[in-house]
Amino acid sequence: MSRTTVNESTCNKDYCCVAVCPTLTLRINERGFPEEASEGTCISCGHCMAVCSTHAIAIEGLPIEDFEPIPAAIAGVKELDALMRSRRSIRAFRDKPVSAERIEALLEIARHAPTAKNSQLLHWIVVNGKEKVRAVARETIEGLRPESARPALVEMWEKGVDRMLRGAPAVVLACAPASFSWGADDAIIALSYLELAAAADGLGACWAGYLKLVAATHKPMQELLKVPEGFVVRGALMLGESKYRYRRIPPRKPLSAQWI
Ligand SMILES: Cc1cc2nc3c(=O)[nH]c(=O)nc-3n(C[C@H](O)[C@H](O)[C@H](O)COP(=O)(O)O)c2cc1C
Repeated sequence: MSRTTVNESTCNKDYCCVAVCPTLTLRINERGFPEEASEGTCISCGHCMAVCSTHAIAIEGLPIEDFEPIPAAIAGVKELDALMRSRRSIRAFRDKPVSAERIEALLEIARHAPTAKNSQLLHWIVVNGKEKVRAVARETIEGLRPESARPALVEMWEKGVDRMLRGAPAVVLACAPASFSWGADDAIIALSYLELAAAADGLGACWAGYLKLVAATHKPMQELLKVPEGFVVRGALMLGESKYRYRRIPPRKPLSAQWI
């Protein structure tokens, strides 16, 4: 059954819907209108509806009312460049909670990150509150202990200093279904969106690599985080207001690129 409806009285036959379709689901029929060429291949990305200037095409399950208008002002490359260069991995946080509303707003932005096959299968775990984050840091140390990947981190923890999650007031983790081969890509892209959005909102973030490693294999951590059955933690970020203001942008290695 076709999920595509084309309003022939409003369709202007510019075929932009056919041109942007990622899965070759649309073709032009013998009367010159777009139509569904193959059943079951549409990934509900919404591009055909989003690009049509006359609202002539509709996909079942994607109401036009759910589409948002494009904002009038979008940051230019200069603003984006400034944001991306000046964000830092923050490892010293102010002793101040982050409101649930603020984190939700960041997740809402991350929800718009691209996902492989438009799968949108990510599930988020938010650990909000210093004490809860501390419990997660403790379990990360426990998970690392057997292999002692970073003995210094464990030693510091034993001295009462959290060098693992840095006393952050919040941590967000992106999970994906274990069976989905693109899950890690989707999670990292969405977390990168979130990291930049946090910087734009005046919040510091730092990738929690060890937490991700431990959460992938250490059962007690999976229980503590209540990772849903069949899901794997694919990435995590600490979040909070930075205690210090950075005054300079550290240099990077020169660009390595080849042009063919
Ligand atoms: C995948 C990944 C994992 C990371 N894990 C950690 C971590 O566990 N702890 C930490 O303090 N920083 C972690 N970082 C932050 C890097 O050390 C940091 O990005 C790098 O030193 C450059 O600094 P900048 O982010 O301020 O530019 C991680 C970064 C990435 C991309």
